[in-house]
Amino acid sequence: MLQQLLRTKPVAPAPHVDAGEPFEGSLEGEVHLRRTLTGTQLIMLGIGAVIGAGIFVLTGQAAAEHAGPAIMLSFVIAGIACAFAGLCYAEFAAMLPVSGSAYSYSYATLGEGVAWFIGWCLVLEYLFASATVAVGWSGYFNAFLNNFGLALPEALARAPYTVEAGRLVHTGGIINLPAIAIVGAVCAVGYVGITQSAFVNTIIVVVKVAVILAFIAFGAQYVDPANWQPFIPENEGPGRFGMDGVMRAATMVFFAYIGFDAVSTAAGEAKNPQRDMPIGILGSLVICTVLYILVCAVLTGMLPYPQLGTPEPVSTALAAYPSLQWLQILVEMAAVAGLASVILVMLMAQPRIFYTMSRDGLMPKLFGKVHARFRTPHVGTVVVGLIAAVLAGFLPIGLLGEMVSMGTLLAFATVCAGIFVLRRTRPDLERPFRVPAVSLVAPLGVLACMYLFWQSFKEHWPLFVGWMIIGTVIYLLYGYRHSRLRRDRG
Ligand code: ALA
Repeated sequence: MLQQLLRTKPVAPAPHVDAGEPFEGSLEGEVHLRRTLTGTQLIMLGIGAVIGAGIFVLTGQAAAEHAGPAIMLSFVIAGIACAFAGLCYAEFAAMLPVSGSAYSYSYATLGEGVAWFIGWCLVLEYLFASATVAVGWSGYFNAFLNNFGLALPEALARAPYTVEAGRLVHTGGIINLPAIAIVGAVCAVGYVGITQSAFVNTIIVVVKVAVILAFIAFGAQYVDPANWQPFIPENEGPGRFGMDGVMRAATMVFFAYIGFDAVSTAAGEAKNPQRDMPIGILGSLVICTVLYILVCAVLTGMLPYPQLGTPEPVSTALAAYPSLQWLQILVEMAAVAGLASVILVMLMAQPRIFYTMSRDGLMPKLFGKVHARFRTPHVGTVVVGLIAAVLAGFLPIGLLGEMVSMGTLLAFATVCAGIFVLRRTRPDLERPFRVPAVSLVAPLGVLACMYLFWQSFKEHWPLFVGWMIIGTVIYLLYGYRHSRLRRDRG
């Protein structure tokens, strides 16, 4: 058993793939995913997945309750941890252009056991994040409709239960219809094709980035530098201001960066992954980091930080200046569109991870099916969409926000460790992109991600351990027995 857990899937140097020739089927007559995505589309996918609830919702609370104006510093700290991981993802994705992302990278380096758990953690990152963001989307959408007197009744826009102080409480709601509707719409796009999905995503990204740039440009004219003083307010208790608060806020706003790694799940559909994967992953990460820090600088400059602790801090800042109210409605529109693209990319990523796991025998075969005409993992897309819709429509999903970050951080740390291992075990592999100063960057990546993971884990460990136990049971009942590696090697 231990031997199987430690078995690694051999890494063959990836043949050079380019030109985007549609691949008409393998020797076994199977249909494969289609290689159509360009470098720009990959950057757009990254931005689509990254900019969402983190910046539009969490920033204000993190500034008001934990970091003050030094929320900028929290974003820099979370951004540095992501940069280490992003560099390692870029090396892997160019070298192994497959759809399994961190799961495939761990399979190649740390063995089947770790790979399974990372695949299981990615379910937290993609499936649960999409459901969490769908609930956020529903809130923003209903508020937006309210501007025109069209909001849905509460009962149809809320899940029946929520968790308060560790107890299940009835909300008075029946079903969160808008959350289910957005998941359904996004899945329909994901079902019909990667090109269509990338197209819809690109339009949304252009809108949200334009509105964010407008906020930065117009908001900057109302910045009062006095609001940035003191930059780090004095410590008032654990996690509240001072450097301790800055680190607490960094753990919170890490959520805002989640998603750049989703680009790597599109590696099987990139025209020229060797060149474009690093461009997509690192490009989207750099652009989002710069935008985030500028938004935080303007936000905390426009209003004293204690006033930013609302669920819609960007709107709150604009509402304080009558001459900027025209921008407020645009920001609400950008948030609605922006959260939709996060859901879209997350719900594209999850079926692709399952697709790869299914090809390896660790997940049922149905996830490995590809639509003959659309060339998408269509069955996986529908199954994942149904689960996300049920989670978002009926369950107290807010509870799981921290789980999303924990799962992601563990995946990031594993990818950094994997790069380090593979440089030693397979120095011969062709690496179209190499992490600079890998002996420094990879260990620092592991440390930074594990530090942030620990901050969350020490508070929420029962949920996380519970999730891992469920994963172990499924692996023992299914993956262990059906593993293709096990069957091939006997
Ligand atoms: N980074 C994504 C967001 O902030 C998950 O919504």
